[in-house]
Amino acid sequence: MHALHPMLNTAIKAARRAGAVISRASRDPGAFTVTAKRRNDFVTEVDKAAEEAVIEVLRTAYPDHAILAEESGASGQSEYEWIIDPLDGTTNFIHGFPQYAVSIALRHKGVVTQAVIFDPTRNELFVASRGRGAYLNDQRIRVSKRAHLKESLIGTGFPYREAGGIDEYLRIFKRVTFESAGIRRAGAAALDLAYVACGRLDGFWEKGLAPWDMAAGSLLVLEAGGLISDFDGEAEFLERGEVVCGTPKVFAQLLQVVQQQRRAREPEQSA
Ligand code: IPD
Ligand code: CA
Repeated sequence: MHALHPMLNTAIKAARRAGAVISRASRDPGAFTVTAKRRNDFVTEVDKAAEEAVIEVLRTAYPDHAILAEESGASGQSEYEWIIDPLDGTTNFIHGFPQYAVSIALRHKGVVTQAVIFDPTRNELFVASRGRGAYLNDQRIRVSKRAHLKESLIGTGFPYREAGGIDEYLRIFKRVTFESAGIRRAGAAALDLAYVACGRLDGFWEKGLAPWDMAAGSLLVLEAGGLISDFDGEAEFLERGEVVCGTPKVFAQLLQVVQQQRRAREPEQSA
C-alpha cells in the first residue's frame, strides 16, 4: 500500500484509540450505563468516551478543522470537516453482539476525501482516500463481481425508531426478499457499507440514517468501484439520510426496486 495521506493517518490513529476504549469496555458489559436518547435510540458512556478520544487526536493534529460528531454535535467553521460516529451499532454493543465500529470521515469543501471504519471486534481496518482506492488491513478491496440481484446478498437496516414509513419499507423488503439471494440486517450501517466495499454484501439500502453513519462508508464503496445514491438516484444521500448502493449492476437493480415500491400505492382498504 502506498504512503497514506497524513490526514488519513491521523484518522486511523483516532479510530484505533476509540477502538481501544470500546474493546476495553466490552470486556466488562455491566460496568457502563445506558441512556435512551429517544425511543430505541441509546447512548452509553462508551460512545461518549470513544468520541472524546477521537476528537482529542483530531484536534491536536488539526485544531482549526470543523467537527460534526454524533454525541457532541457540530463545532468550528472550516473547509475541512471531520464527520464522526464513535460507535456505530450501539444497540449491538450494548447486547454484546459483535458488530459495531468506529467511523471517521473527512469532508473537504463538501466532498468526502478520507475515510476510516475500524471494527475492534475483528481488528478490521477499512480505509479509503478519494482517487486512491479502498483497503482492508492493507489489502486493496473491490466490490463483488455480481451483476444480478437474483444472486446477490443484500444488507439493510430496519426502521426501528418510529412506525412512520414502515409500509413503504416493507414493500421494498418484500420485493428484495423475492428478487435477491438473501437479506441481512447486521445492525451497523457503517460496516454494512464497508462490507459492500469489500464484496461481503453486493448491495445495501436503508433510510433514516445520519451523515456520520454513511460518510466514511460512502467513500469506501465508491473507491471500491461501487455506486451509491439516495432513493432518487441522486447524490444527496448524506443530506437526505437514505442510501442505496452496490456493485454497479446490482445498485441499478436495487434502486429500481426501491423506486417502484416507493411509487406503489397502498392497497385500497375495503369498506
Ligand atoms: C445505527 C446503526 C444501525 C442503523 C441505525 C443507526 P448508531 O447507528 O448504524 O445499523 O440501522 O439507523 O442509527 O446509532 O448505533 O450509531
Ligand atoms: Ca453511534
